[in-house]
Amino acid sequence: MQPSTAIDRAWLTLQTDPKKWLVTGCAGFIGSNLLEALLKQNQIVVGLDNFSTGFQHNLDEVQQAVSQEQWANFHFIEGDIRHLDTCHQACVGVDYVLHQAALGSVPRSLNDPITTNEVNIGGQLNMLVAARDAEVSSFVYAASSSTYGDHPTLPKVEHTIGNPLSPYAVTKYVNELYATVFARSYGFEAIGLRYFNVFGKRQTPDGAYAAVIPKWIGAMMRDQDVVINGDGKTSRDFCYIENVIQMNVLAALAQGEARNQVYNVAVNARTDLNELFAMLKTSLAANGVPYLKEVQHGDFRAGDVRHSQADISKAQQLLGYVPQFSIDQGLEQAMPWYVQFLSDNPS
Ligand SMILES: NC(=O)c1ccc[n+]([C@@H]2O[C@H](COP(=O)([O-])OP(=O)(O)OC[C@H]3O[C@@H](n4cnc5c(N)ncnc54)[C@H](O)[C@@H]3O)[C@@H](O)[C@H]2O)c1
Repeated sequence: MQPSTAIDRAWLTLQTDPKKWLVTGCAGFIGSNLLEALLKQNQIVVGLDNFSTGFQHNLDEVQQAVSQEQWANFHFIEGDIRHLDTCHQACVGVDYVLHQAALGSVPRSLNDPITTNEVNIGGQLNMLVAARDAEVSSFVYAASSSTYGDHPTLPKVEHTIGNPLSPYAVTKYVNELYATVFARSYGFEAIGLRYFNVFGKRQTPDGAYAAVIPKWIGAMMRDQDVVINGDGKTSRDFCYIENVIQMNVLAALAQGEARNQVYNVAVNARTDLNELFAMLKTSLAANGVPYLKEVQHGDFRAGDVRHSQADISKAQQLLGYVPQFSIDQGLEQAMPWYVQFLSDNPS
């Protein structure tokens, strides 16, 4: 029987003709999930990471999840994308680049705009140069929904953006500008994926810059207060990691007019923070962890956009993207991992 969806067809092509991939940021949340998915499909993967926000335990977990033969297809380089030599070394013989390494988080970028700029802009420029020099077949990079900035229209359509609201948003927009300029100047076509609030296993619940879903699950499992920044009506298009993996693979294999583009990566749904709190509470209770405290409300957070929801028709039309997980389905899959992880790491 013929596979019916674009992603099924893509995986079949890759199984028949395995490729060599470079995943930068492979010890992080999204990178380690990409690594696991690729190894499970018998692809050859080079990983590059400097462990600044990623973890060895993420790589260990991937090793546990794949066979010995599949793990032997992985070559790890501990290094920094701020060094061009390292980027050149990582790109040798590579077919497809999935560039994920960056310093995420709006508040981090407000606290330290210089390092965020150096890693996110300087690092991506190095990766573009190295990948161009190595003549890789495709280059996919992590862009961000923060590029929509203060533009009020919902849902967000790729060609209409506003003013950036944080240094982080500037860096992610500059990534797109550099990608476009590389196509124009060198004929090197890249694809940017504007991720909207991604969540799933291995997204860290700890640290000052944790994302809302793992941060709240961590607080609830540790019986700490959950604090909503603002009135709780702030909303996001939460996107489960499996949808992100799908988009990376489709983008890597894209041809013709589907290249040299940016795409929204989300579900085209909107969940506000009050609803999210209720969903997490229900999901945790279903996993045997009741949370009995009332939610707290704090101040709005600087640099945050108020509402976010993606129009995903461009990715549907040009790449055949069909999100396979809603927020509920994603939480159902991710929650047992969090319960286990937080039981093993209680503080
Ligand atoms: N998680 C989201 O919701 C989201 C939303 C929009 C965009 N993004 C983008 O997706 C990408 C991955 O994000 P994530 O959530 O997995 O974050 P993460 O922090 O878990 O992963 C980033 C990885 O990059 C590595 N890294 C950072 N600086 C590096 C450097 N100088 N050299 C080499 N490696 C370096 C880190 O150690 C880490 O392993 C980032 O580019 C981020 O900006 C994420």
